[in-house]
Amino acid sequence: MAKTKSVYVCSNCGNDSPKWLGKCPVCGEWNTYVEEIIAKDNKRNHNSVFETPKAKPILLRDVTVGEEPRLDLKDEELNRVLGGGLVPGSLILLGGEPGIGKSTLILQTVLGLDTLNTLYVSGEESARQLKLRADRINSQNNNCYIVCETNLEQIFVHIQNSNPDLVIIDSIQTIFSDTVESSPGSISQVRECSAAILKFAKETNTPVVLIGHINKEGNIAGPKVLEHIVDTVLQFEGDQHYMYRILRSIKNRFGSTAELGIYEMRQNGLRQVNNPSELLLTQNHEGLSGVAIAAAIEGVRPFLIETQALVSTAAYGTPQRSATGFDIRRMNMLLAVLEKRAGFKLIQKDVFLNIAGGLKVNDPAIDMAVISAVLSSSLDISIERHICMAGEVGLSGEIRPVNRIEQRILEAEKLGFSKILIPHNNLKGFTSKVKIEIHQVRKVEEAFRLLFG
Ligand code: TYD
Ligand code: MG
Repeated sequence: MAKTKSVYVCSNCGNDSPKWLGKCPVCGEWNTYVEEIIAKDNKRNHNSVFETPKAKPILLRDVTVGEEPRLDLKDEELNRVLGGGLVPGSLILLGGEPGIGKSTLILQTVLGLDTLNTLYVSGEESARQLKLRADRINSQNNNCYIVCETNLEQIFVHIQNSNPDLVIIDSIQTIFSDTVESSPGSISQVRECSAAILKFAKETNTPVVLIGHINKEGNIAGPKVLEHIVDTVLQFEGDQHYMYRILRSIKNRFGSTAELGIYEMRQNGLRQVNNPSELLLTQNHEGLSGVAIAAAIEGVRPFLIETQALVSTAAYGTPQRSATGFDIRRMNMLLAVLEKRAGFKLIQKDVFLNIAGGLKVNDPAIDMAVISAVLSSSLDISIERHICMAGEVGLSGEIRPVNRIEQRILEAEKLGFSKILIPHNNLKGFTSKVKIEIHQVRKVEEAFRLLFG
């Protein structure tokens, strides 16, 4: 066995030092150094994967780019998030909380690709477990090989033997290389293994999907360098207790990061949700107070979403505040605006807020719907069913312009809404002819007057 020694590695940037440091001199982060055991004769040498001639520098202007060929993954949502399909030779990292459905998403996708020869390397589950999942998804495919292996060198042997068109590694944190002494999942293992896999992907032009764990802060576990070396970072998120899942692209060298995919977790796998609005608005809320519809945009897709609020008299000294799918600090700010503008007595009220479907919406344009839903519940007056709204609320109660207003209006019209409340002066460049009644409002009071008379 090789003689071992330990180094301290920054878990943020991957810089190493022989001594523990409080602050990383490279990235400036505090308390990020962790001890790692490495082999003394650790040579960072990935040449053993495949022997190819050394690259020669060429002039950039001599590089020819044809239409980038893309592999169609037969999944509209995934294709779009990737920027129009999978680029050959690209390395993709898919992160997400445990149990959110990462393995399901990938297995389902590869099982749908009948023509591609795929190798699914599972370091977490046995072949039986994978088969059980495949049976749930109920898909027949004769080109998907699975192998339960965690040793990187062995994985490359399997790859060489089966010569796949697409490789899946589930998950990168379980893979270890013999050249690194520390345990699987440690920073140096993750870094070395992913670097070797990247080299393989680029040399053979084979796309590789890595599944990655996330840590308790919600970031992808392992060194930040992992996110730097891969071409695309996708994040699968959602509330485990709800069925909707959002696939976001955090980094993409081959497309926009504004795209997003929506799925619904079913008994038999994930279903693509092509028209999110219809799903999020199915409930009939005619006559119910505390419900307001927001014309939101996530990524570049508009959808209408229900915000629900419940306001009740506080039973204890400290009023309760709870928000699901919405930032609680932002909700507190909106409540303070309500207190100032609509005589809402904050101290005496419990407020619960919920964004339908368990989605987390980051679009500030849903502010107006949130504040209206709270007031609607507080007054116990329902908002008319055919009204929706979009607008950011400022500290002084002003309604501020939001982006892509045209898309929001058109989506609302498409779904049969008859009225939309939007910020004043937000219609510049809006040319479409629409039947929906557009009300421009400057202040929250104006909106409240329109909604509650
Ligand atoms: P999984 O893909 O194992 O999650 P991850 O790889 O991100 O840890 O998904 C696990 C959850 O998905 C599990 O709790 C059950 C649920 N599920 C379904 O609801 N329907 C299905 O068809 C499948 C395969 C899983
Ligand atoms: Mg899994």
